Amino acid sequence: MKRIGILTSGGDCQGLNAAIRGVGKALYGHFGDNVEIYGIRDGYRGLIQCDYFPMSPHDFAGILTLGGTILGTSRQPFKQMRVIGSDNVDKVAAMKATYKKMRLDCLVILGGNGTHKTANLLREEGLNVVTLPKTIDNDLWGTDMTFGFQSALEIATNVLDCIHTTADSHSRIFIVEVMGHKVGWLPLYAGLAGGADVILIPEIPYQIDALVENIRVRDYLKKRFCILAVAEGAISQEEAKMSKKQFRESRSHMHFPSISYRIAKEIGERTGREIRVTVPGHFQRGGAPCPADRVLASRFGTAAAQLIRDGNFGNMVALRNDQIVPVPLEDVAGKLKTVPADLDVIQSARDLGIHFGDTNDTLPRSKKSKS
Ligand code: F6P
Repeated sequence: MKRIGILTSGGDCQGLNAAIRGVGKALYGHFGDNVEIYGIRDGYRGLIQCDYFPMSPHDFAGILTLGGTILGTSRQPFKQMRVIGSDNVDKVAAMKATYKKMRLDCLVILGGNGTHKTANLLREEGLNVVTLPKTIDNDLWGTDMTFGFQSALEIATNVLDCIHTTADSHSRIFIVEVMGHKVGWLPLYAGLAGGADVILIPEIPYQIDALVENIRVRDYLKKRFCILAVAEGAISQEEAKMSKKQFRESRSHMHFPSISYRIAKEIGERTGREIRVTVPGHFQRGGAPCPADRVLASRFGTAAAQLIRDGNFGNMVALRNDQIVPVPLEDVAGKLKTVPADLDVIQSARDLGIHFGDTNDTLPRSKKSKS
């Protein structure tokens, strides 16, 4: 008899249930009555507190299109895992004890960056672990794509599409703030797909003067509106030069709900233009997974079950060149997949005239060649 635990940890995203379904159906399909699957509630919280429930084949049916996670999730920061808090609980020891008490043969963990650091810690502590890469941020090292990203991309793109019509009617500047944490995959792809005029991502720190100059050029060219897709993690060139400590200190004095509002104020003061900020926020993480995520999450789920069948533990299932492959957890943990400067998508966007706020060279090619 195989006994498998499964948990989802960190921020939720579309496709979690599709992936859970893939794991459960493939395991039951292969092992039949010789497997027992246990859902662990609210991520590592449930593992620490021994909070779990048995899952029958029935639990894995009818959840392909369901958003969120049927297991519940929570954020349990990796940094705190080895810290004993006021509750006096040794979290790592408690997780190991639960694993032992449940007599698990393997723990399946669905999560993003922080989750993978803890998953690797559990592996180092001797637990059999198999993981699946989820996050709308697409920032997990080792996989070309995480599930959740493509669904969030559809939503963010839809926001940009809708903003176009009202921005045009009112001749306004609009900032759409796109999630993505400290990386720019989602804002970059949404900005390109949604026809943004400006895309600001953390990997390309912006210069406010360059941004303002670009907007003036657009005014001069009689463009009615300007739409900026701004990463929630966007930083200025001055901020990029700061140490982590200086940056934190400086942002603690930023009296705006988010970076987009600061940029809006700075642009508004310098151009006198009317600016609106739209923050779709967690909307981007909600609802049903798009078909591409349903497929990817299903592939990851069944591949994770295959790793369990093979006894190939300590791996994350990853997408590489459209193949699902195992990647050792020790290689994944603690590494962020940022947008590379030489990514062809960035060049393509620049060729389309999209501005990244990083240069004063904002004149469109046609205008430059005339002068
Ligand atoms: O990691 C996914 C993500 O949605 C990020 O894009 C965002 O910065 C963060 O989670 C928001 O976290 P929370 O749900 O804890 O507010």
